[in-house]
Amino acid sequence: MATYTCDYLVIGSGIAGLSFALKAAEQGTVMLISKADIEETNTRYAQGGIAAVTYEPDSVEKHIEDTLICGDGLCNKEVVRMVATEGPAQINQLIQWGVKFDKRATGEYDLAREGGHSEHRILHHKDNTGIEIQRALTSKVKDHKNIRVFERFFAVEIITQHHLGEMVTRHKTDTECYGAYVLDLRTQKVDTFLAKSTIMATGGVGNIYHTTTNPIVATGDGIAMVYRAKGKVENMEFIQFHPSSLFHPGERPSFLITEAMRGFGAILKTADGKEFMHKYDKRESLAPRDIVARAIDNEMKISGDEFVYLDVTFKDAADTKNHFPNIYEKCLSIGIDITKEMIPVVPAAHYLCGGIKVDMNGESSIKNLYAIGECSSTGLHGANRLASNSLIEAVVYADRAAKDAVAKSKNIKINNQIPAWDYEGTTHNEEMVLITQSYKEMQQVMSNYVGIVRSNLRLERALTRLGILYNETEELYKKSILTQNLCELRNMINVGYLIIKNAQNMRESRGLHYSLDYPKSKGSEF
Ligand code: FAD
Ligand code: SIN
Repeated sequence: MATYTCDYLVIGSGIAGLSFALKAAEQGTVMLISKADIEETNTRYAQGGIAAVTYEPDSVEKHIEDTLICGDGLCNKEVVRMVATEGPAQINQLIQWGVKFDKRATGEYDLAREGGHSEHRILHHKDNTGIEIQRALTSKVKDHKNIRVFERFFAVEIITQHHLGEMVTRHKTDTECYGAYVLDLRTQKVDTFLAKSTIMATGGVGNIYHTTTNPIVATGDGIAMVYRAKGKVENMEFIQFHPSSLFHPGERPSFLITEAMRGFGAILKTADGKEFMHKYDKRESLAPRDIVARAIDNEMKISGDEFVYLDVTFKDAADTKNHFPNIYEKCLSIGIDITKEMIPVVPAAHYLCGGIKVDMNGESSIKNLYAIGECSSTGLHGANRLASNSLIEAVVYADRAAKDAVAKSKNIKINNQIPAWDYEGTTHNEEMVLITQSYKEMQQVMSNYVGIVRSNLRLERALTRLGILYNETEELYKKSILTQNLCELRNMINVGYLIIKNAQNMRESRGLHYSLDYPKSKGSEF
């Protein structure tokens, strides 16, 4: 049961956490914790790339407009302008840190296009941009003398006045964060990490669904921790289902077939080889994701098929292999030559647009607690995220949060009165299988009732069933010595609850939230 102190405690080692760490470490000490190996993040799985304006005819105004249209009237316009404007400088920062984006023979960046973008503006590294970003940033962080990395350390709760015996309520505005209790997964002991500022960079929630593109680390831990600490969490109903994950039953996570392939010209078709996107949107296969995912869901329901096809066979084979080497190899490994055969695809839970509510510097409603990257809700995405706007949001907010935290740190004292983690009344859990079973049930509930298409009845059923799992899990949590699985299950149930409650409060369909009971949008400027 060790106690560690630093200026900045960063929880998460994806693009958001690593970028913040590199910036803040120029001004103070950083401890960066990651519940798995440092490289196991959603960031590493990113394929298509990172959206930012580089050359004419593209412009910041066009990036803003595309983001607003995609967000279906719920984006914060000031935030959209800020991210589109500050994005290019952060691209340069990534390049300085050693990230390599593909160039054409002419020396210009090879910009791709994805759904909802009016221009080619996606910087990428082949079809595995995430691996390249993770590689470059990890190497910089590991070499930095002011950053100490803790791999296989699992953050359990953030520390607030509650741990000093004071009442903390959701309506209080002076709740402060002093750090976090963290489970060392090798010793199974809970350590105390104290810091002037704590930065939540814990990523997404994909694993609450059965079919997801997210790796197993994406269990919504940061959002659940902040919610339990009475911080503000918003827009949780806007779960983005990516239209095209490879249909390969039994494989988790589902392998993504990047939207850049549709930008390259690939076309969606039903199992009998017919195009269908023209029935749903004039942008056809390049419409925003909410529209494409719903269209595929509808076609699958009409035909009873388990997938639709993505057809890239008519493109030049060498060109396809050159642009998508990772996808080519993956499909070939399961017997599909994408230059000759169509790719079976299904929608999969991919991204959370909402999360921990933050201001324009990434600070949450809890003092000295920041949230950046996918776990945050900045207002950029509104009701639906524009493709490749996630990575750019993460670096822009990491930069802003670092500047803000550094400026404020001079006036913050580390709180040394924090008690050690209380183990009282807990024993080893003899029946770990109960956790696995509840995990599966939770995924079933969310997938069956809180998917692409929702209804009042489905949401009510989900809430009732999740309520049972909630009670059982809380009971187990109180009695058991902590394990990662138990904490993750508890977090995912918390997050599932927030999604359902937010969805129930919607009295319209908008962006990623579609309800059979309220099929219309209340209207917006876009
Ligand atoms: P992550 O990269 O997910 O990192 C989260 C970190 O938090 C991990 O290190 C994890 O171990 C750690 N963590 C979580 N909980 C705890 C805990 N309790 N204790 C300690 N550590 C914890 N976006 C784009 O813009 N362009 C793309 O091309 C793109 N492609 C994608 C492809 C796939 C397959 C997926 C899944 C996502 C894609 N996205 C893309 C989305 C984007 O990759 C993510 O939104 C982004 O990488 C999130 O970065 P992050 O730093 O917020 O979180
Ligand atoms: C993709 O490559 O299709 C994913 C892009 C994203 O999620 O922004």
